[in-house]
Amino acid sequence: MKLFIIGFGNIGTNLMKIISEKNIELKNKFGTSFEVMAVADSKGVYVGFKGYEDLLNAKLRGKMEEFRDKNHDIMNHIEDLDYDILVEVTSSTPNGEPGISYVRKALGRKKHVVTANKSILVKDFDVIDFSKKMGVIFKFEATVCGSIPVFSAIDNYYSKAKIIEVSGAFNATSSYVIRMMEEGMSFNDAIGKAIREGVAERNYEDDLLGVDSARKALILHNYIFGKRMNVEDIENTARIQDVRPGMRLLSVVRDSNIIIKYVEKSEKSKIFDFNGAGMSFSITTDLFNTQTIIVEQDGPWESAAAVYSDLVDILKVNSNE
Ligand SMILES: NC(=O)c1ccc[n+]([C@@H]2O[C@H](COP(=O)([O-])OP(=O)(O)OC[C@H]3O[C@@H](n4cnc5c(N)ncnc54)[C@H](OP(=O)(O)O)[C@@H]3O)[C@@H](O)[C@H]2O)c1
Repeated sequence: MKLFIIGFGNIGTNLMKIISEKNIELKNKFGTSFEVMAVADSKGVYVGFKGYEDLLNAKLRGKMEEFRDKNHDIMNHIEDLDYDILVEVTSSTPNGEPGISYVRKALGRKKHVVTANKSILVKDFDVIDFSKKMGVIFKFEATVCGSIPVFSAIDNYYSKAKIIEVSGAFNATSSYVIRMMEEGMSFNDAIGKAIREGVAERNYEDDLLGVDSARKALILHNYIFGKRMNVEDIENTARIQDVRPGMRLLSVVRDSNIIIKYVEKSEKSKIFDFNGAGMSFSITTDLFNTQTIIVEQDGPWESAAAVYSDLVDILKVNSNE
């Protein structure tokens, strides 16, 4: 299946690596595989490269323009190119744009779409209904809790039960920074290390002040309970003073409310039973009691793997047709 990947940063480059590593295995399993036919970033659209190595080497050498199409307009390419799946992995933005426009344009052409960009769903949750109306697949596993298969589990296993509550450590940066402080680092040194290692973004306030967790919790709430809440409805009491040893950032999502707050790690020892840049997702239903998934380390590779998993789900459906 032909892919058009928009966004060639941490997720986009790791996704290309994963595809190139897994394509033979895919072909053997399903008789078909992926071909990345075009890639875009903020500077334009790249075509005519021979696989992942070609483009990544050009990126490392600062020579991406070798493959840059004369037509810089990404929307034109979304409209014209003959791809099967659009992969939208551009930066999250306050208003969800241009991601929303990219995704809606592709869905409008009846193309399948996979995204890791949570700002799209925070600002335009109706895009899910739009994809259904167009009769195509829209997947977004990596938008919440990186590589933990949250939506896949909700759609499949937990769909037989009534979900009462989901909770967890939805933000890896806050856990990592506090963990470093517990090992004796100052706040500033811990933040610096997290940024250098790619765990935290330069604009780390969103992570530490619960804004990133709130966005994820909102998507989960609206998806699970089928009701629309807005970011303003969330009870977020996370403060920078709470970023200190012994504390962790907890998110709780129920039908009636969403709570984001720092708590003593010992209060929720199961949810926070990981070291470093980990994450957890805990779900309580009327059938299965409370179940918790924990990952020790979650970063761009793991999230790119979640995007890849979405792509394979689409490939499987299409190879059975
Ligand atoms: N990193 C993670 O672990 C992780 C986990 C889950 C979800 N996500 C989400 O996944 C998305 C990508 O994350 P990332 O870490 O790969 O970000 P990143 O490293 O900052 O890369 C973002 C990419 O998007 C491109 N871009 C920005 N604005 C654009 C525009 N208007 N049109 C086309 N391309 C544009 C950038 O272009 P340039 O290269 O030209 O700057 C860059 O290639 C984000 O929405 C993020 O929130 C990330």
